[in-house]
Amino acid sequence: MKKKVIPLRSVQWFGRQDIYGFIYRSWVKNRGVPQDQFDGRPVIGICNTYSELTPCNSHFRTIAEHVKAGVLEAGGFPLEFPVMSLGETMLRPTAMLYRNLASMDVEESIRGNPVDGVVLLVGCDKTTPSLLMGAASVDVPAIAVSGGPMLSGKYRGTDVGSGTTVWAMSEELRAGKISLEEFHEAESCMHRSHGHCMTMGTASTMASMVEALGVGMPGNAAIPAVDARRNVLARMAGRRIVALVKENISLSKILTKKAFENAIRANAAIGGSTNAVIHLIAIARRIGVDLKLADWDRLGRGVHTLVNLMPSGKYLMEDFYYAGGLPAVLRELGSTGLLHKDAMTVNGKTIWENNRDAPCHNRDVIFPFNKPFKKNTGIAVLRGNLCPGGAVIKPSAATPRLLRHRGRAVVFENIEDFHRRIDDPGLEIDEKCVMVLKNCGPRGYPGMAEVGNMPLPPKLLKRGVTDMVRISDARMSGTAYGTVVLHMVPEAAAGGALALVRNGDLIELDVSRRRLQLLVAEKELLKRKKAWKKPKPPLARGYWRLYVEHVLQADQGADLDFLVGRSGPLVPRDNH
Ligand code: FES
Repeated sequence: MKKKVIPLRSVQWFGRQDIYGFIYRSWVKNRGVPQDQFDGRPVIGICNTYSELTPCNSHFRTIAEHVKAGVLEAGGFPLEFPVMSLGETMLRPTAMLYRNLASMDVEESIRGNPVDGVVLLVGCDKTTPSLLMGAASVDVPAIAVSGGPMLSGKYRGTDVGSGTTVWAMSEELRAGKISLEEFHEAESCMHRSHGHCMTMGTASTMASMVEALGVGMPGNAAIPAVDARRNVLARMAGRRIVALVKENISLSKILTKKAFENAIRANAAIGGSTNAVIHLIAIARRIGVDLKLADWDRLGRGVHTLVNLMPSGKYLMEDFYYAGGLPAVLRELGSTGLLHKDAMTVNGKTIWENNRDAPCHNRDVIFPFNKPFKKNTGIAVLRGNLCPGGAVIKPSAATPRLLRHRGRAVVFENIEDFHRRIDDPGLEIDEKCVMVLKNCGPRGYPGMAEVGNMPLPPKLLKRGVTDMVRISDARMSGTAYGTVVLHMVPEAAAGGALALVRNGDLIELDVSRRRLQLLVAEKELLKRKKAWKKPKPPLARGYWRLYVEHVLQADQGADLDFLVGRSGPLVPRDNH
């Protein structure tokens, strides 16, 4: 039987022999592109998040050149284009506010242009989900290439990890245990090469998710940014995307329910960031996969953390790569029956074909499944009258004895209230209290800031207290740790029970029973609800307004309601 030839999108632009074809080609020729590049070969968009305001992605011009080389080697025609880049450390009030905006940029940039497939250059936290969400809504062939983690931070003879060590050092500075000079010295030692945060924070987690989902090449998660093999990976992705276009393998053939289930288990095995919960749900809903918060709890049960990386452990991404990287973890999962082995990946092989023979070179970094680093550490989804729509906790980053706890609430109405009072020596708080932070969810902040891991009061830090139960509708940096309940649904600004908590109320957390309960009578809560007033958004115009009016709750991926789903690669109106 004759194989059906799928016409390329780009032919609708470059294949025309009329005035429009002249215009499409002629303007591209202005930089020396010869006529033979318009002979119907696949046009590959390289979607670049390079920006000096996104330090983690500042080497992406080099990565893009390697992708281009691969595309040309495979007979494709590469065209690089920029999209909104989200720098986690720079963007205020939080990069998460703009994840959905960036995804719109990606979606429309792909759909509106003559590209047959795309390579997505991703790195810093939000750049991975925003590009995958946008590409998923267009559903063209796509490969994500992560920029890779930085080399390990080195400070006075010890390894220091992005974020994780910052949290610890800032607590030490506040407690008067280190000097400002030491603090400044550590800044220079921590981030000493190109790349993204090198703990198992959100960027490393999402790079691992790219590999586990099969939407990146094997090895994508951990090759250091400055290792030549990162450039080789980019080049191979450039070659491979041309084949994906020719084989008509669009993103929806890779991003299946099985792929997401593999990724959820991989997240548990790497001790990955809670942010992955929101991002994966958002990506799944774009491509049309029904992924729910409950799936995280169901699939994470019985999965152990195998990877001894900060913030749950002691090593960094560079060590992870030398020990075998994500392939060694996926092999462990597959050998234990915890992987859908037939899930297809972008290199044309199944996830199991890619990983079944992966070696492990260091069992202190990557533990075997039958002797794990930490047991039963999948993300737990809590319910109760405080969060009927769900909330999450990462048990691997929590203090075990606090996973079952009852305490008196100390309430902060918003993040400003928290900053105003937390250093007050007169604050009535002890280590048994439950710290409650309101109005930091998707609508309330807005943008769902990473403030859920509230720093502890200095007076308790000085007494040697290292962890307390903290609950909020916020997110937590993937590099942070502690007994922190996050993503509460409904959030306070949407009138959830969290909005009704008052100082002195008793709160009960029981992670083994997946419960989070406010021990206040229903009648009293109804009375408080009647008196509750919806907080005013801080800015009522432009994108902020659009966001607050349309953002969904965390259990639905905090996407904008009108962006859920995919509209495909066709340009709906075209008068050319
Ligand atoms: Fe970019 Fe951490 S700040 S990955």
